[in-house]
Amino acid sequence: PLKTVAKMLALASVFATSFNLFAAPVEIKFSHVVAENTPKGQMALKFKELVEQRLPGEYTVSVFPNSQLFGDNNELAALLLNDVQFVAPSLSKFERYTKRLQVFDLPFLFNDMDAVNRFQQGEAGQALLNSMSRKGIVGLGYLHNGMKQFSANTPLKQPSDAKGLKFRVMASDVLAAQFDAVGAIPVKKPFSEVFTLLQTRAIDGQENTWSNTYSQKFYEVQSQITESNHGVLDYMVVTSDAFWKSLPADKRKVIKEALDESIALGNKIAAEKDNEDKQLILDSKRSQLVTLTPDERQKWIDVMKPVWAKFEDQVGKDVIEAAVAANK
Ligand code: LMR
Repeated sequence: PLKTVAKMLALASVFATSFNLFAAPVEIKFSHVVAENTPKGQMALKFKELVEQRLPGEYTVSVFPNSQLFGDNNELAALLLNDVQFVAPSLSKFERYTKRLQVFDLPFLFNDMDAVNRFQQGEAGQALLNSMSRKGIVGLGYLHNGMKQFSANTPLKQPSDAKGLKFRVMASDVLAAQFDAVGAIPVKKPFSEVFTLLQTRAIDGQENTWSNTYSQKFYEVQSQITESNHGVLDYMVVTSDAFWKSLPADKRKVIKEALDESIALGNKIAAEKDNEDKQLILDSKRSQLVTLTPDERQKWIDVMKPVWAKFEDQVGKDVIEAAVAANK
């Protein structure tokens, strides 16, 4: 009988190994810099849920929000070292890997999020997903957050109101040029530092979406928010070529589908939060809404739009034209 037991155990172990029963699941790390109650935070959690539901025991997804694992300064380097497998930086943060994506930072380029979406889903936008392939970065899809607003501790109505003020910008030369254009002082800083910089008055203002301004509590340390809708803050979900190719084709397909569905949910949340978080900020009465008349807004356009020409060669005239055309 002992022999039989040993035989059965051996058989069971062969069975178990061949069906991967004892193999540890592959861990996919997804790192991001925002809070969980944001479009990107919710998208990442949905991705975890779907991957673990559809590939049980084979893959797990660990989500690290709030720059806990990696922040703006190192998340793409970490991706290329395979220390993390998925990140979704804002489109402004790929400058070191491609200049083409800077199209998204050009001030007053897109009329609204529908135009942004049309451009991303069109031919030129889809081609940009591959703009970093030579660097080993694979673009898997775009994710929305929303249009950016200016904030400060003074009402920004005229471009001259921004003169001499220090504004935090993401690591993008276009965004720096945008503030240079109004005589302000752009300061490139990682997202994780913005609240403290504003609170200590080391900087005077910033630009962000309603979602980020709410979830990071920027509105508690900025008395005025100008509803400028002057630019877009969206993301590209990226992985490394090395990691992506290491996946068996059938698993890669399941993971990509899970990602597409998560992005769809994230986009829906982005559209909702844009209104909801704006309202929550206004209800808090910590920050006042500054609205621009069409004439006032035109003045901002007039001083900031010349920035386009400066970056036309780097971004590509064709790319800019395709983006303009998406406004219809
Ligand atoms: C920022 O740095 O302001 C944003 O890109 C943060 C984010 O990921 O939404």
